[in-house]
Amino acid sequence: MSTKKVSEVEDPEQYLLYPETRKSAKVLPTKINRVEKLKWKRNIPCKGCEKSFNFKDIKHTTLTEKEAITEARRCLKCSDAPCIKGCPTSIDIKAFIQNISTRNFYGAAKTILSDNPVGLSCGMVCPVSNLCQGNCNLTNEEPINISGLQDFALQAFRKMQIPQIRDPKIDFENLPKSYSTKIACLGCGPSSISTATYLARLGYKDITVFEKNSYPGGISSSEIPSFRLPFEAVKWEVSLMEDLGVKVQYNTELGKNGFTVQKLKEDGYDAVFVGIGLPEPQTIPAFDGLTEENGFYSSKTFLPIVSMASKTKMVENIPKLPQLGRHTLVLGAGDTSVDCALSAFRCGSKRVSLCFRKSTDDMKAVDDELQSAREEGVELQSYITLKNINLENGKIVSCTFYRCDKDEEGNYYTDKTQEVTLKCDSVISAFGSKLEKKELQNSLLPLQFNERRKAQINHDTLQSNDAKWIFVGGDLAGGKMTVEAANDGKTAAWSMHCYIQQQNGNEEIAKQKPELPKFYTEVDLVDLSTTVCGIKFENPYGLASAPCCTSSALIRRSFEAGWGYAVPKTFTLDKDIVNNVSPRISSEHDHNYGTNQSGFLNIELISDKSGHYWLKAIQELKEDFPEKVIIASIAAPCIKEDWELLAKKCEEAGSDGLELNLSCPHGMKDRGMGTALGVNPKLVTQVCKWVKGACNIPVFAKLTPNISDIRVIAEAAVEGGADGVTTTNTLLSMINVESNGTSWPSVGKKEHKTTYGGLSGNYIKPLALRMISQIKKKFPDLPILGLGGIESAEHTMKFLNAGSNVVQVGSAIMNSDYTIVDDMITGLQCLLYMKSRPDLREWEYQTPRLKNYLPKEQIYKKSTPLFGEFLSEKNEKEQKKLSREKIAKESFELIKAPKQDRKVPSIKDMVGIANEKVSTWSGLSHKTSDHVVALIADEEECINCGKCYMTCPYDAIDFDEKTHIPLVNENCSGCGICQSVCPVVDCISFVTREIPYIVKHGLPEEIQLKQIEKYNQGEREEDRKGVEGKL
Ligand SMILES: Cc1cc2nc3c(=O)[nH]c(=O)nc-3n(C[C@H](O)[C@H](O)[C@H](O)COP(=O)(O)O)c2cc1C
Ligand code: SF4
Ligand code: SF4
Repeated sequence: MSTKKVSEVEDPEQYLLYPETRKSAKVLPTKINRVEKLKWKRNIPCKGCEKSFNFKDIKHTTLTEKEAITEARRCLKCSDAPCIKGCPTSIDIKAFIQNISTRNFYGAAKTILSDNPVGLSCGMVCPVSNLCQGNCNLTNEEPINISGLQDFALQAFRKMQIPQIRDPKIDFENLPKSYSTKIACLGCGPSSISTATYLARLGYKDITVFEKNSYPGGISSSEIPSFRLPFEAVKWEVSLMEDLGVKVQYNTELGKNGFTVQKLKEDGYDAVFVGIGLPEPQTIPAFDGLTEENGFYSSKTFLPIVSMASKTKMVENIPKLPQLGRHTLVLGAGDTSVDCALSAFRCGSKRVSLCFRKSTDDMKAVDDELQSAREEGVELQSYITLKNINLENGKIVSCTFYRCDKDEEGNYYTDKTQEVTLKCDSVISAFGSKLEKKELQNSLLPLQFNERRKAQINHDTLQSNDAKWIFVGGDLAGGKMTVEAANDGKTAAWSMHCYIQQQNGNEEIAKQKPELPKFYTEVDLVDLSTTVCGIKFENPYGLASAPCCTSSALIRRSFEAGWGYAVPKTFTLDKDIVNNVSPRISSEHDHNYGTNQSGFLNIELISDKSGHYWLKAIQELKEDFPEKVIIASIAAPCIKEDWELLAKKCEEAGSDGLELNLSCPHGMKDRGMGTALGVNPKLVTQVCKWVKGACNIPVFAKLTPNISDIRVIAEAAVEGGADGVTTTNTLLSMINVESNGTSWPSVGKKEHKTTYGGLSGNYIKPLALRMISQIKKKFPDLPILGLGGIESAEHTMKFLNAGSNVVQVGSAIMNSDYTIVDDMITGLQCLLYMKSRPDLREWEYQTPRLKNYLPKEQIYKKSTPLFGEFLSEKNEKEQKKLSREKIAKESFELIKAPKQDRKVPSIKDMVGIANEKVSTWSGLSHKTSDHVVALIADEEECINCGKCYMTCPYDAIDFDEKTHIPLVNENCSGCGICQSVCPVVDCISFVTREIPYIVKHGLPEEIQLKQIEKYNQGEREEDRKGVEGKL
């Protein structure tokens, strides 16, 4: 017999790292702390000089899925969001962040690519502090990481491998002949990719992009290093353009082999876009005669070799990286200079200095770039300008500079009385670019250049002043960034469209508002329409009878935004009209201020607008939006004539159906309405009968959750002849008791009283799901309009699967605005589409599952954490493995999407499918052989927080003192609590238990042994005998 007290822990070792309440202040000498803290350091700086051949991503903006969702939820989704005005391509930033916050990565990608076909490149390279992010309303706190979110969303979408198609509304086969006009785009950089994409989206069929290199992307590929923009990203954007039939002809250089703009015209190209950038480096006399042999490069000779040598699969024959000496001087202070400086480290330099004539404050490089430069140890040599480069034996040995200064007015000047010489081994000039070569200019004729060597164009249309069939964009048109080039593509595409159409006699085009087609895929073809009780819904999304339906004008706005139907705010006969108290809506806030409230508590009554108003509103709305559905929500006391009159009037006004408010839990109850009727099955039956007898439109009883068994009320509604039910209304609750003891909402100047109110939103979602599932199991054919906390397509799917036929949304609109319906629609289309593709079917909503990616024995495998000496060792090991040969071997393929092997299911196919697997508790398997066990992913996932260790009630997780790696031991009972608190998506999963499980009953040992025997025999019969009550 054990002598241990039952309250004593079995394995004291196990609890060594368990948090303790501090009973005293801790004494730890600084000397010890200095050593100790290093063991846990995660932000170990890796200087540029240690990064030889290391081209791994260095962007601070890069996000994991968890980080992206957390960041997206921080965004306020502002009205007239100023971030959008900061984006040259006007991406609907607020909308795509909304998409990410609901894990609708398809929707986010669609939003981004609709306005910017090179959105992935831009998400990686945009200097956002000068663009979108610089305008963010949260700047005083911490602006939203917009580019990181953009990058994340498109990477997530890229994994889905869904090709681009044209707007299905365009009748491509039957477009007029003008759409077969031959169009050429010169240079396959961002401006041409954007121009060609939009022209192809408009329906143009014969577009060719001519590129001088053997690879696409322009400077995105050749001059932006892989640690900022990998080649795969560019290649993918080009593949999306090619999906629309745009051809790319490589190795075709202007001015070579007779290839000129004039020749294109002769070959029948009626419109030409020139997006070749500025191919030559700006130079000064001090560089004359210097070459790579001497150790001299310009950014235009250095960066392309770096790119070809380090970017996977960009060129067939991978060159060697430029071999730079110990100390490299980079001349210039812009973003390209920083790219050169960071690349210089990777080409072997141990010391890199940026030399420029201005102050560090006036550097052109944006903060985002400079941060990386500082972190990697790039030295900033300000206030100097090059005098000459000094050679010894044909090799650069130093550079001599004049000192510079600023005068009183802030003008920079060179002080030739002061010189400074810096020893160095290599020099890279990054003074900017130009197009000066006469041959190249001649090959662009009849395009003319002005005295500042800029193309002579109309900057509103990007059309050449001298030859109306030529259009120019990107750097050649004065653009300075990838995103400006992308935007030039939009402007040019519209101008070219107008030009071609006018040439073909369509003069009307000039009067049209410029509008370009959005990004489309097969997902957008998914039909979300469904029919319930003979009513056709264009999509399953309706406005709940709540503040979002306070007036007819609001409903109109919602229909324009895309909602399929509306249930106007409940109204009654004018004799019972209500006045509301104030205030009447509140939220818990907790630690979450602003948007993204979990839900709301309200003590609002039904509409304070008259029946007269609502009947007129229904009539008008039906006239203006005949495709949309209106289900009038009505309430009355237990008076037959009142219900009958309301029902008849609504039917006459054109309402498609009726929702009977038998569920308002506060206020209306005091007036003998709402839950005064809805908790009484007899009255529910009675009211349904009266209404059904008075009208011929479908009737839905809106049920209250303030009852122990919802099925009883649903049954009463069915008995009364209701065609369906709406589940659920709000849950009677109390929220926010303030520190002075009064509750909010607090009513009355003197009284400060409150009352119990109805809770909505996320708080009630699980409850609503359970009720819907229960009703559907009992009445499989009963239509259910489901609601309660729905905010996303994922939530919608859960509601459909539990048994809703269509859904309604209230609180989510209060948290945001009507445009969220677009997020819900694209998200739901994507989830349905994914079921038709074999590779996407097993994803967890829009996230690929990590499940089973580890071998079973991994449960007990030790792995390395990412801090302290473990991290240093890991980095060192990885650094050693980097080589040119490795790049040559690496491969990425843009695999075309696998074909759909099943039909895309309809909304109807999704209804109630979860219920087959919902049983009574005693109907669940009790076999220990069916037990599961926690599986913790390896070091790449786990962040060593120990949350699983702290929460596990079975001592089943060992938490290593040195590595902080949690390991699941044989005590795991597979309860699931660790997964519930783990902060990392998919880090803990559950797999079949491979080792025997012995339940520790805490019984005397001999009885315990017998129990074990029993368990091992299989199911325990006594468990089966439990209450067989129907859930
Ligand atoms: C402020 C407020 C007012 C509401 N007014 C009504 C109403 O007049 N009639 C009604 O049937 N439901 C009313 N509801 C309940 C909603 O229609 C809905 O059933 C509930 O909010 C759950 O959905 P949700 O989580 O999407 O908001 C109201 C809800 C709120 C928050
Ligand atoms: S394209 Fe660039 S500027 Fe526009 S939203 Fe994206 S990151 Fe911001
Ligand atoms: S919080 Fe910032 S990023 Fe979000 S919508 Fe507002 S301005 Fe844009």
